[in-house]
Formats: sequence, structure tokens, C-alpha cells
Amino acid sequence: MSKQMSHLDNIPSTPGKFKMDKSPYIHNRLRWHSSLVKLTFWSFIFLGLILIFFFRSPSSNPLPQDPSRRSLRTYNWGGPSWEKRVRSSARVRSRNGISVLVTGAAGFVGTHVSAALKRRGDGVLGLDNFNDYYDPSLKRARQALLERTGVFIVEGDINDSTLLRKLFEVVAFTHVMHLAAQAGVRYAMENPGSYVHSNIAGFVSLLEVCKSANPQPSIVWASSSSVYGLNTKVPFSERDRTDQPASLYAATKKAGEEIAHTYNHIYGLSLTGLRFFTVYGPWGRPDMAYFFFTRDILKGKSIPIFEAANHGTVARDFTYIDDIVKGCLGALDTAEKSTGSGGKKKGPAQLRVYNLGNTSPVPVSDLVSILERLLKVNAKRNIMKLPRNGDVQFTHANISLAQRELGYKPTTDLQTGLKKFVRWYLSYYSGGKKAAG
Ligand SMILES: NC(=O)c1ccc[n+]([C@@H]2O[C@H](COP(=O)([O-])OP(=O)(O)OC[C@H]3O[C@@H](n4cnc5c(N)ncnc54)[C@H](O)[C@@H]3O)[C@@H](O)[C@H]2O)c1
Ligand SMILES: *[C@@H]1O[C@H](CO)[C@@H](O)[C@H](O)[C@H]1NC(C)=O
Ligand SMILES: *[C@@H]1O[C@H](CO)[C@@H](O)[C@H](O)[C@H]1NC(C)=O
Repeated sequence: MSKQMSHLDNIPSTPGKFKMDKSPYIHNRLRWHSSLVKLTFWSFIFLGLILIFFFRSPSSNPLPQDPSRRSLRTYNWGGPSWEKRVRSSARVRSRNGISVLVTGAAGFVGTHVSAALKRRGDGVLGLDNFNDYYDPSLKRARQALLERTGVFIVEGDINDSTLLRKLFEVVAFTHVMHLAAQAGVRYAMENPGSYVHSNIAGFVSLLEVCKSANPQPSIVWASSSSVYGLNTKVPFSERDRTDQPASLYAATKKAGEEIAHTYNHIYGLSLTGLRFFTVYGPWGRPDMAYFFFTRDILKGKSIPIFEAANHGTVARDFTYIDDIVKGCLGALDTAEKSTGSGGKKKGPAQLRVYNLGNTSPVPVSDLVSILERLLKVNAKRNIMKLPRNGDVQFTHANISLAQRELGYKPTTDLQTGLKKFVRWYLSYYSGGKKAAG
């Protein structure tokens, strides 16, 4: 299964700058008529320009792939027309609407949440660095989708505090929906730095800017069910221990929850963490099992199905994207104001954590059976031992707290949700669009 991200390694490195050879002809004046010299000289210049153009064309100039280089990438932002787009996107269009900065807006959940907020008249500004953890063309397609609904996504990194401060200068956001992160459990062994960059340093940089903003926004952010780690007591409840993470990803999300506590305590920031349980649906993430199972079943490739020791079932509490979106909106709508100002706390502020799951874990083998029926193709199953590299055996959410306090009530079962996913998948990847991954 770790093979599925290996295409990331195949991206060629950035080509070096094209250097033109010094022409010996220019020095040989005596043997050449001067007009011929000029002609040759200009031919070389012309050839050189063509080659430079060729080497710098986008297809041979890939996005940087390691996080340190990624953070050195400069983005184009600023200027009057850019500010105008930022303001217009963030403008509230309904009475009692809120203005929300959505980080990770070109991501799976970010796109759906941004669209839902915009639909009900809230102001929405997106922020995303469009990194290449998975096919960036899918992020671009989501961006195009949001663009049509009037949501602008600023291209930049959450660890860039100069950019963040600028955004808060231009718009007095009432809320931040923080979804930007390095996701994925197994990829942490390949690129641990990217988790530290986005989930730790990036989160702190965002909180630093939020605490200094005037007024301070209320923040809702994505934690993860993975914080329950190796726990065996089910269902997972918010009060359970979360001190035995099974992956670096889980550890950075757990760290995020502790960092949130600190910023709430010191600066009076209102903070709500949402522990998502395996979110799936249209426009989903190609690195997740339901997505690449669909791709590989259609290709006739065998798919790895993990089982735990003693043929134990591996199961997930799959949660449909529309249900997650309702949970996110519920959290934003019930978030109290931050209490600090000018970086100083004035009084205690709200600090919350909620499970957003579906309360019905489904064995991964059942997921495959549903996909087989929907795709009308038999899967080639390759039963394998669950490797000890981050995945836990099962997840199961107790959602009674979110139900009570956010009005959260998931309504989509896996069969119904996957039907919608498959319909989207087939239409998105047909008609000349290149295959996923
Ligand atoms: N999808 C799930 O099943 C699931 C489960 C638990 C938690 N989560 C969390 O929910 C959030 C959204 O997840 P998703 O499934 O939409 O993932 P995603 O990868 O599709 O979206 C994350 C987006 O954030 C952007 N991003 C990453 N690092 C950034 C940075 N440093 N600066 C700016 N942008 C950056 C990425 O380009 C991407 O578009 C994440 O925090 C994730 O950890 C998701
Ligand atoms: C985040 O940004 C700060 C500067 O603002 C920089 O010092 C730090 O190295 C960056 N961290 C990561 C992990 O990229
Ligand atoms: C679910 O969580 C609530 C707290 O929100 C708790 O009171 C209840 O006992 C939990 N239920 C189970 C079955 O663990």
C-alpha cells in the first residue's frame, strides 16, 4: 500500500538554467565576412532563446516536492487588484452572516465547506499552497469550481505570517476555518518534515496572527480521529485518553490540540477542534482507500485489503462529506467570540473538541463489496497483514456530544455516499481527463 504514493518520486528535478556556449566564430573575424558573422551570431541568439523557452515550459518545470524547498517558493500576492479580489470574496452577503478565512480551501473538505458557506451568504476567502502531496490538478479543478461561486483562493502558505497579517489587514475576519494540513498516515515515514511544517509550525503561525488581530477571530480547526491511536475501548469519546498516537500524523494533530489549549489559555482565543472520522465523497482525496480502490478496481489491478492479527477485521467509521460540512457549519455557528484584544487576554474563552463521525464502523472488505456492485467490476483482493506503520485497526465515534452541542446528525450511509462518489469519479475522469494518480 505504501507503493500508492510512489509516483511522487517520479517527478523530475528542476532543470538547470540553460547556458549558451561561447561561439568560437565571433573571434574568427579575419576568415569571415562581417555580415556572415552577424548572421551566425543572431542565429545562435535565436536558437538560444528557443531552447530557453523550451526548458522553462511548465511541463518540464515541476512544483518543488520537499517541504523545505516548498517553503522557499514565492507566491504572487499583493497589489490593488489582488486586494480587491480578497475583499470581494470575503464580503458578507446575508444578514448576520460571518466572514471566514478558510485555510486548505483547495483541499477536499475545504472546498465543500467554502462552497456551503458561500451558498448561505457568508463571506469566504480561501488560502492554500497547492502542494503536490497528491495530484495538484485536482486542487486546481476544485479551485475553478469555487471560483465560479465567487470564492477566491489566495495562493500561499500558512507558515507565511507576513501574508497572514496582510489578509487580516485587508479583512476583519470574524472566523477562521482551519483545514490546511499535511494529511495521510503512511506518508509521514517518507516526509516527516512536511507534517511539522504544516501541522505544527503552520498552525502556530496562524494562531500567532489570530491572537494579534483586532478583533480576534473565533477558530474552528480540523483535528483527527487518529488522536485515539491505540485505544481499544469503543466507541471513542472525547474524554478518552489520547496519549498513544500510532503515527507522526496523529502526534501532530494531538500536538495541535495542546497548542490550541495554550493559545486559548494565554490569549483568550475561542478554539474548537473537530476530530474527523475518515471523510469520503465527491472531489475526495486520491490517497484514501475508497478513492484508489475505485481507480484500481476499474483498472483491473489487485487491491490490498488489510486484516489484523488472527484474521481480525479492519474497520472504519466512514463519514460522508455533506455530514462533515454540516458539523463544521454547526461548530462555526455555535463558536463564541474570542475574548482577547491586541494580543492580551481579557477573560476566559471557549475551548472545545468534538468527534465528527458516523457511529457505524464498516469493515474494509464491505467497502470493497459495495464498490464492486457500484462499478459492476469484480475486485482482485489481496489480503495482507496490517503493517505497523500508522494505521489503527478500527475507528468508531461516539458523537453524542456533537449531537447535543452542534446539532450534528449524520444522515448518509456508506452505500448512499459511495454511490455519489462513484458517479462523480466516473464523470470527472471520463471525457479526456487523465487517470487519477
Ligand atoms: N479527509 C479525512 O478523512 C480527514 C480525517 C481526519 C482529519 N482530516 C483533516 O481535515 C483537514 C482537511 O483534510 P482534507 O481531507 O480536505 O485534506 P486535503 O489534503 O485535501 O486538504 C488540505 C489542503 O491544505 C493545503 N495545505 C497543506 N499544507 C498547507 C500549508 N502549509 N499552507 C497552505 N495550505 C496548505 C493542501 O494543499 C490541501 O489543499 C486536514 O486538517 C486533515 O488533517 C481529514
Ligand atoms: C516557518 O516560518 C518561520 C519564519 O516565519 C521559519 O523560521 C520556519 O523555519 C518555518 N518553519 C517551517 C517548518 O517551515
Ligand atoms: C458518549 O459520550 C458521552 C459524553 O459526551 C458520554 O456521556 C457517554 O457515556 C458516551 N457513550 C459511550 C457509549 O461511551
